[in-house]
Amino acid sequence: MATIDQALPDPDKLEQFVFRALEEVGATLNAALVVMGDRLGLYRGLAGAGALTPSELAARTGTAERYVREWLNAQAAGGYVDYHPAEGAYSLPPEQAVVFCDEDSPAYLPGLFQNALGSVLDSPRITDAARTGAGVGWHQHNHHVHDGCERFFRPGYSANLVASWLPALDGVVERLQRGARVADVGCGHGASTILMAQAFPESTFVGSDYHAGSIETARRRAEQAGVADRIRFEVEPAAAYTGEGYDLVTMFDCLHDMGDPVGAARHVLGTLAPDGTWMIVEPAAGDRVEDNLFVPQGDLYRRVEETHVLRLYPPDEMDALLTRVGFTWERLRRYDGFELRPGWHAYAAKKAARPASTCGNAR
Ligand SMILES: C[S@@+](CC[C@H](N)C(=O)[O-])C[C@H]1O[C@@H](n2cnc3c(N)ncnc32)[C@H](O)[C@@H]1O
Repeated sequence: MATIDQALPDPDKLEQFVFRALEEVGATLNAALVVMGDRLGLYRGLAGAGALTPSELAARTGTAERYVREWLNAQAAGGYVDYHPAEGAYSLPPEQAVVFCDEDSPAYLPGLFQNALGSVLDSPRITDAARTGAGVGWHQHNHHVHDGCERFFRPGYSANLVASWLPALDGVVERLQRGARVADVGCGHGASTILMAQAFPESTFVGSDYHAGSIETARRRAEQAGVADRIRFEVEPAAAYTGEGYDLVTMFDCLHDMGDPVGAARHVLGTLAPDGTWMIVEPAAGDRVEDNLFVPQGDLYRRVEETHVLRLYPPDEMDALLTRVGFTWERLRRYDGFELRPGWHAYAAKKAARPASTCGNAR
């Protein structure tokens, strides 16, 4: 057991920490209020409307004035809306309008709030799992986690996937333009698959995910986007998606969710064309626990790991997984900030010339 200093609490540090914890309690409650404002159209009702009184906003959005007033006061207290005392009115600053109303902006955050609230709602299941040690699969989360995930990640994929991530892979865009076979594994609601199908009409795509509900949504989204003829969506685990000879296999934000990442990696190895590429995009977690302490992004990642019951891959673990299964790989770059929010590692893996040892488990 580690030895720690058992000195008496320092009153100043205690007070500081209590205030920090109280802020976080407020933030937890605000997740519910942001999701409420998003679902009731309160942010959209305020955006570009100048200063509105609670009754004006309630009338615009078909909601009850009493609740809207309290919601506005809470949002004003957090700096999410501006309050104008002389008129008893509230307005949404342009920056907040982007964050809450512009679905295509990489700064759009309602999906992340929805995902966070969904994770809080899943807390009893996760508490039980911590007693038994059982896993919690993606399919066991509530729909706010699934929907919030798509809403949060799609704008980042829209801004970057075709414009910069695929061009970072050697020769892949040329192949996609000529007509390539692509498998998008763990595709969820299919946001990435649909974007690629729209950009590369000569190519064909198989989107797969083990969660039937997500694939149902993906099929609907592909119909709406007019690319259903170029994508076949299937319900399959990553270790068993169908087809072979793929020029490109992609995994966006999902390798860490898989119960058997080694089985998935071996299946990729067997289904890639000889010179095919496996692209993996993972949240940029640090290698060590101490790399993730007390930085907002590290806090966020560690909390997502615990509430989603997963382990994000730091680069050294990715190395172990890929090389032992039989890939050579390179880290394309670390993408930071809005380009790939809130920070990601992208990897390109190719079949190694010599088969790797098949013994052992890479994790
Ligand atoms: C965080 S979501 C990301 C979804 C999608 N790639 C995206 O970026 O929007 C993780 C996805 O991995 C899928 N998944 C988890 N384990 C899987 C497995 N063993 N085989 C296939 N998909 C899996 C989940 O169902 C979920 O759709």
